[in-house]
Amino acid sequence: MCGIVGYIGKRKAYPILIKGLHRLEYRGYDSAGVALINTAGQLNVYKAKGKVAELETFCAEKDTEGTIGIAHTRWATHGEPNTQNAHPHYSESERLAIIHNGIIENYAVLKAGLQQEGYTFKSDTDTEVLVQLIEYTQVNRHVDLKTAVQLALQQVIGAYAIAVLDKDHPDTLIAARKGSPLVVGIGDEEYFLASDATPIVEYTDKVIYIEDEEVVSLRLGEEVDITTIGNVQKTPEIKRLELSLSQLEKGGYPHFMLKEIFEQPRTLGDSMRGRVNVRQDNIALSGFIDNKERFLNAKRIIITACGTSWHAGLIAMYAIEEFAQIPVEVEYSSEFRYRKPVINRDDVVIAISQSGETADTLAAIQLAKQHGAFIFSICNVVGASIPRVSDSGCYTHVGPEIGVASTKAFTAQVTAITMLALCIGREKNTISEEQYLRIVRELGQIPDKIECVLKQNERIADFAKTFTYAQNFIYLGRGYNYPVAMEGALKLKEISYIHAEGYPAAEMKHGPIALISQEMPVVVVAPRCGTYEKVVSNIQEIKARKGRVIAVVTEGDELVSRIADYTISVPETEECLTPLLTVIPLQLMAYHIAVVKGCDVDQPRNLAKSVTVE
Ligand code: G6P
Repeated sequence: MCGIVGYIGKRKAYPILIKGLHRLEYRGYDSAGVALINTAGQLNVYKAKGKVAELETFCAEKDTEGTIGIAHTRWATHGEPNTQNAHPHYSESERLAIIHNGIIENYAVLKAGLQQEGYTFKSDTDTEVLVQLIEYTQVNRHVDLKTAVQLALQQVIGAYAIAVLDKDHPDTLIAARKGSPLVVGIGDEEYFLASDATPIVEYTDKVIYIEDEEVVSLRLGEEVDITTIGNVQKTPEIKRLELSLSQLEKGGYPHFMLKEIFEQPRTLGDSMRGRVNVRQDNIALSGFIDNKERFLNAKRIIITACGTSWHAGLIAMYAIEEFAQIPVEVEYSSEFRYRKPVINRDDVVIAISQSGETADTLAAIQLAKQHGAFIFSICNVVGASIPRVSDSGCYTHVGPEIGVASTKAFTAQVTAITMLALCIGREKNTISEEQYLRIVRELGQIPDKIECVLKQNERIADFAKTFTYAQNFIYLGRGYNYPVAMEGALKLKEISYIHAEGYPAAEMKHGPIALISQEMPVVVVAPRCGTYEKVVSNIQEIKARKGRVIAVVTEGDELVSRIADYTISVPETEECLTPLLTVIPLQLMAYHIAVVKGCDVDQPRNLAKSVTVE
């Protein structure tokens, strides 16, 4: 993770870099730092532990002049999150400064070699090793900075997006990537670079996505120069950004997470726009249409994802098996990539990732690709690494998700996989026309139905206060709503730091029931469909042991309402679409509990939005 940003041009770099860091803070916020070359040719580095705001306070009295600079917000991997380990890192002579997102895996060997050469280290980071290696190469091989970066990176095993400043060349900014994202923005006589386009969007809509093992040289008055680390010249491909500034602001909400929860009626509409045609009773997904045969011939579908996206993958399993009757396996990317999985040429591998940058998911699809599987990805960030590696895919189009806890991306992922399952099922004739049409029409109603659920926000905020005492929560659900229970539990633990477990309701009697007492809140997702009666029995079992039940039910449900302590109702819908409604109260409840507990909802401790390390 970590966010990196750089600027070279005619304007003062510092405010642009700081603003950029705020936009990238979702990627990590253990410490932050900035390096600037001022007009006197000094290379100043300032760093502070904690969030970007701490860095700003620290820099208030400092010399922040200069029209070239780099800045970093960190999610610690090597070395605890303190000022010394914060980026940028100087080289031995303090002539160079570097920022880095990723992990240099062979840093220990490289460090030992440099120490033998008399290099000393001020931090515990792998990054400092890299900047020392670059300087060592520059000095000993008598090469310019770009060549030194190329040669140094040839020795590196690991992942990186880096940017390097050389105080002797204040007109040049060198950057490179492998495995971690890097975007260059092209302005009017100025260049920007960043981990994603959010720090760039207000200055230019012209961007270049840097590819793995490419080194980019940004020099004032010259065109962008891209070479590989082996010095093969590349032609930059300039793309237009589809991001707008207003999409990045809170729009009157106290937190991005709440804004994003409330955006869901609109974002789901955006995910379906041009795809679900309710009037013509049809779903058209171009990523499917163009590759129909691969899906129709698939003997198996493997879904690979992490975190919330993995929960969406579980829902995908229910939908694809039900409608398309293709066996589905859902894998944590981190396990899949390392357990020598059996992957066949007639497998379809679906990667689900909001950011499109999660390192484990990226590696999982690269592995599957090597085995000849067809790769389809469901991502939100246009142009990110995962969609670029994939053979085909479907963007969720919900706009930037900034709150670290995923909300609107999840509902859009579920919508995308439902559309895909329906498309395959219809082509294969494994779903009846009647059921297909019912679900297509119902998809069109979902945004309005989410709106109805959101109307209960105040009531949820009210009873959420009751539960701030809790140390533990259990979440139960069955069928399509078992992954929802897990997602509800994940939301709560991520942002309120309350321990929570999501379980299939029927499994409760095999363990979690032992935990139930009058102290234990149990959230039961119990819409009136599928195994409803059995879930009602589970609720009775919890009440018999004095547990406190918060139930998510279908509107008009009197049975559960009578026994549960609190109920939140959602409108009736098709069973496969219930997760799109039942997850909303769970998102809101986690949000309100975290707010009452005074937690940092948008940037919870130790987490990051985009996990570009293993
Ligand atoms: C991190 C985020 C989660 C996210 C997961 C997978 O853990 O905090 O919100 O679900 O990564 O990210 P992806 O971008 O691949 O969906």
